[in-house]
Amino acid sequence: MKHKEMVYVTPMPVRIWHWLNAFGIVTLCVTGLQIRFPDHINIFGAYKAAIRLHNTAGVVVSISYTLWLGYYLFVAKSLIKQYVPTVEDITSGIFRQAFFYFLTYFLGKPNPHHSTPDHKFNPMQKATYLMIMLVLLPLVIFSGALLMYVAPLRELLLLLGGIKTLVGTHFLIACCFTAFLFVHIYLATLGHTPLSHFKPMWNGWEEEMVEDSKPENTVGS
Ligand code: HEM
Repeated sequence: MKHKEMVYVTPMPVRIWHWLNAFGIVTLCVTGLQIRFPDHINIFGAYKAAIRLHNTAGVVVSISYTLWLGYYLFVAKSLIKQYVPTVEDITSGIFRQAFFYFLTYFLGKPNPHHSTPDHKFNPMQKATYLMIMLVLLPLVIFSGALLMYVAPLRELLLLLGGIKTLVGTHFLIACCFTAFLFVHIYLATLGHTPLSHFKPMWNGWEEEMVEDSKPENTVGS
């Protein structure tokens, strides 16, 4: 038999960061589409309006990213524990989790990972979030900042391969974010109910389905 247990896994600063960041990244992707393909896509009217909105969303995402990093490094002090996969995660955990997502989930088997406040993420989440949060997001912010200030940062821009290389890199990372968004949202619906992973991003509490302990282990039995 299983019973429900409530675990507080997502503190308020992380929730505020997450939704501000999600809104900012979606805005960046949509405005970026118009900026990249102005002849085919026109959502925000004038081209300049799309650029203004894109730059504003970029600033919002950069500020919220700094707050996220500061929170995990200096307040929660759990960036490494939460986000860096262990050797066991890499050698077997990722495959166990992938097996669940690709096969055993559809056979009604339970998720091999159980969230606790100290180990919120399964090995696949850790690897993906590490790449997104500590590699791609800083890179897209850095390349975006260079593109926003082309004239004053000209020397640095040339050193990094010129504007074409930078625009190409920025666009490629944006494509990765778009792909991540679809997979991220789909996988987030694979909890024991479709919304069970969304609720903790709203109120902080995750509902865990836990096996009842055997009677001989139960206090007072
Ligand atoms: C509309 C867009 C988005 C939705 C609906 C969404 C949904 C969710 C949900 C349901 C969770 C909790 C389940 C889980 O951990 O997988 C989550 C966590 C997370 N999401 Fe998103 N997300 C969105 C956009 C993004 C974006 C754009 C990023 C990064 C660039 C992102 C990064 C993360 C991270 C790092 C976590 C773990 C947060 C923590 O507890 O420390 N999400 N998201």
